[in-house]
Amino acid sequence: MAGPVPVASSLSDIYTVDAIGTQAKRWNNLLARFQTIYGQPAEFVARSPGRVNIIGEHIDYSLYPVLPMAITADSLLAVSTNVASTNTKEGHYKIKIANVQDAKFPAHEFDIPYEAVDIDATVHEWTNYFKSGLKGALELLRKKHGNDFEPKSMQILMDGTVPAGGGLSSSAAFVSSSALAVMVANGEKTVDKTELTELAIVSERAVGVNSGGMDQSASVFSERGSALFVSFTPSLKARPVSFPKTNPELTFLIAQSFVTADKFVTGPVHYNLRVVECSLAAAYLNAVLNPPGTQLPSDASPLSVSLHGFHETYFALQEHSSGATKSKSTESQLEELVALTAEKLDKRDGYTREEIAAVLNISVDELNKKFTSRFPVRAEKFKLRQRALHVFSEALRVLKFMSLLEQQPTNTDDTSEYNAQLGDLLNQTQDSCRDVYECSCKEIDELCSIARKAGSYGSRLTGAGWGGCSVHLVPAGKVKAVREAWEREYYSKLDLSEEQKEAAVVVSKPGSGSAVYLVDDKPGPVVVDDRDRGSEVY
Ligand code: ATP
Ligand code: GLA
Ligand code: MG
Repeated sequence: MAGPVPVASSLSDIYTVDAIGTQAKRWNNLLARFQTIYGQPAEFVARSPGRVNIIGEHIDYSLYPVLPMAITADSLLAVSTNVASTNTKEGHYKIKIANVQDAKFPAHEFDIPYEAVDIDATVHEWTNYFKSGLKGALELLRKKHGNDFEPKSMQILMDGTVPAGGGLSSSAAFVSSSALAVMVANGEKTVDKTELTELAIVSERAVGVNSGGMDQSASVFSERGSALFVSFTPSLKARPVSFPKTNPELTFLIAQSFVTADKFVTGPVHYNLRVVECSLAAAYLNAVLNPPGTQLPSDASPLSVSLHGFHETYFALQEHSSGATKSKSTESQLEELVALTAEKLDKRDGYTREEIAAVLNISVDELNKKFTSRFPVRAEKFKLRQRALHVFSEALRVLKFMSLLEQQPTNTDDTSEYNAQLGDLLNQTQDSCRDVYECSCKEIDELCSIARKAGSYGSRLTGAGWGGCSVHLVPAGKVKAVREAWEREYYSKLDLSEEQKEAAVVVSKPGSGSAVYLVDDKPGPVVVDDRDRGSEVY
């Protein structure tokens, strides 16, 4: 899985056969518009997809493994570095960036000083996502080539098909493709997937959302036909996971709620607050369960202290003091942590800053500095009990889901029972997201219950939640019934454009991850396969 980002020689390397027709038109349109806007051809296209998360919600920033997969919808950046330097400020390089959806995302031109990329995270501006990829990529380039490395100017045209704020991670697709574009524009012949992912994870935080690493990993590492098991400790690792053959066959349906959940806007009361609550829960559990003075390890989580870090420290100390020779299984450790959380974090209405600071033996100022100053949050009370219960139980569900996939169904003629077990875990995730983590919304709950009634084995929100998308594990024979039920009971009640109606529900097959396509050596329309090289495709 690790290794360099692939260089595609044709669209067939990137998309499945059924998607090629639409994609070839789109790519040709992107390249033609690039020529019109900048008066010259693009040199290459950097591509990164969105993702759907199958299971493991809101646990990546606590450093527990997750199971997402890439989707076909993606972010494309067509790029040329042939930029006239005549009107660029001294000591600066130029970035010209435009979007095919120019009414929604207007074009910009920046002169950026060699030393630093300035991102104003207080404004919600689409080009911030490019700048965050730029910033991260330049840090890596400087590590490789020294501090006096001078970045190249770039002209860019973007085309993103992942719905923005729709829970399918348009942001990570955009940031990962931006970082990839900057690396290639600056002469990197190969871009390492792990390095790209790690820098994209950290860079996206510059936009103002304290996110985990699932989306960028799925976007960069995914392989066509497989889901991706991503683990974050001791270091970032991703491996493809295939679903066994089942009867009835299983299909993943993704359904939009059309409730836009903008993490940037709602971060202080939703996403960023959850990140803070999880880190505070880790610190609190450490204070009440580990010997006095125990320090949690500083790790790769957004606030450097995570529930996973607490988990490892707690059991390492337990084993050490009991002289145990064999470690407990991770499943039984997580079960124990669920029980301990229920006992030790017993305040259901949450904890004030003063209460937490007293237990951590620090002042409220110190607590604010360490936990709530990196990203602003608004809360009187922090629901440590609920957040830790969700994280430990969800981490356990991921392991159970993985062990079902590894077991394979016993009765291959009829795997209904096996399918139902997989679905049941997804349903449990939804219950926990709705009631314990409080990241669902009534529209998503409704889509899930309509789907289950029409035959879905398991239905839940996917991504950050509070709107956005839902994912459903549906037997192939019930896909039509589920779609009809949504249309009748949900979508027909909304005022949707034709375009929205078409995008409302998609059958998702696991797609491939990031790729680079060099236009230089292939003049004319994009290549669909070798026989079509250089000839008109559609
Ligand atoms: P989630 O993180 O829940 O999976 P998401 O990534 O789609 O969903 P956000 O993290 O809120 O949602 O990011 C959405 C932002 O990304 C948009 O507001 C916009 O600034 C930027 N963005 C996404 N797609 C595009 C695009 N095609 N063109 C320009 N900017 C885009
Ligand atoms: C967003 C974040 C991810 C992850 C999910 C919830 O998509 O970007 O890192 O936390 O929410 O699982
Ligand atoms: Mg996002």
